[in-house]
Amino acid sequence: MRAVVLVGGFGTRLMPLTLHTPKQMLPVVHRPMIERVLAWLGSHGVDDVVLSLGYRPDVFTEAYPEGRCAGVSLHYAVEDEPLDTAGAIRFAARSAGIDDTFLVVNGDVITDRDLGALAELHRQRSAVATVALTPVDDPSRYGVVSTDDDGRVLAFVEKPLPGEAPSNEINAGTYVMEPEVLDLIPEGRRVSVEREVFPALAEGGRLFAHSSAAYWVDAGTPDTYLQVQHDVAGGEIGLGEPAVHPTAEVAPDAVVEHSVIGRDVRIGAGAVVMDSLVMADAAVGRRARVIGSILAAGATVGDEASLGNLCVVGEGEKIDPGAHLDAARVPDPDA
Ligand code: GDD
Ligand code: MG
Repeated sequence: MRAVVLVGGFGTRLMPLTLHTPKQMLPVVHRPMIERVLAWLGSHGVDDVVLSLGYRPDVFTEAYPEGRCAGVSLHYAVEDEPLDTAGAIRFAARSAGIDDTFLVVNGDVITDRDLGALAELHRQRSAVATVALTPVDDPSRYGVVSTDDDGRVLAFVEKPLPGEAPSNEINAGTYVMEPEVLDLIPEGRRVSVEREVFPALAEGGRLFAHSSAAYWVDAGTPDTYLQVQHDVAGGEIGLGEPAVHPTAEVAPDAVVEHSVIGRDVRIGAGAVVMDSLVMADAAVGRRARVIGSILAAGATVGDEASLGNLCVVGEGEKIDPGAHLDAARVPDPDA
């Protein structure tokens, strides 16, 4: 089966990490997020992917110039301007000549869900489109879906107001679609699959959904992006992976706990790094403290500085020696 993978968003919630690097090219334990998504698709028989690009397409095309990644062959569909999710699906599928049942995946989701059951339900119900669901505690930042006993979608509500969600089953960002869905997407303007196409299909009784309790995280916010690092390293998904890259230089008396430390990172004497992500080539000074925070590639934290409470430091940024930062973003995207 072929798949369209949506990777064209601005990654606004992860700013400033996404200032130069699109969200799906940020690392998840030493490996770009997109490679994990493609490896997952490949393990379920997807051999051909259309990457739906908009923001910073060059970062993807330069990383995979041969048009192959994780054993999957890639087509690039680059939008001139953002078409939103349905517009992007239509544009990508048409430009790659998709004319058979296909998959669509949000490129910022890390999961090991079995796609077989989803495809099987889609086939059995002769659905036009089938949405993968996952249960969550707080559905309000997602697309929320209610179904009948056959899996038919009764309601699809994108980002409902708190207390107005029809269920705690959310759109997991993976769809099986028939090519006829593409004909329902108007051309020449932005169209959202979640706000326009799915509600219309649900209204006509032609949208189905299938829930799974498999591991699932949308890595699109600082807290979930950090969470997924710990989960991959700790084997919540997969078999577990070394959290500290072998090329990292950690001073013998530094404390590194529950943290992912990237390639060529330097951690100085007496430093403490806990519950954090430190990307490649970053450096943490002597007796500095980095707690529950994210340092992008090449960022440096001066001696005796302290960062806590989900600080996010952008690529190459420098934190002054002795500075104390709490829940700060550097540079501040709102400034
Ligand atoms: N090509 C292209 N063009 N891609 C886009 C565009 C666009 O205009 N807009 C967004 N994307 C991509 C993003 O890069 C991301 O991979 C995916 O589409 C989803 O966008 P997000 O911005 O991450 O959406 P969300 O997380 O708020 O909500 C979506 O995902 C949830 C589950 O992860 C929705 O699909 C929700 O319904 C869903 O619950
Ligand atoms: Mg997302």
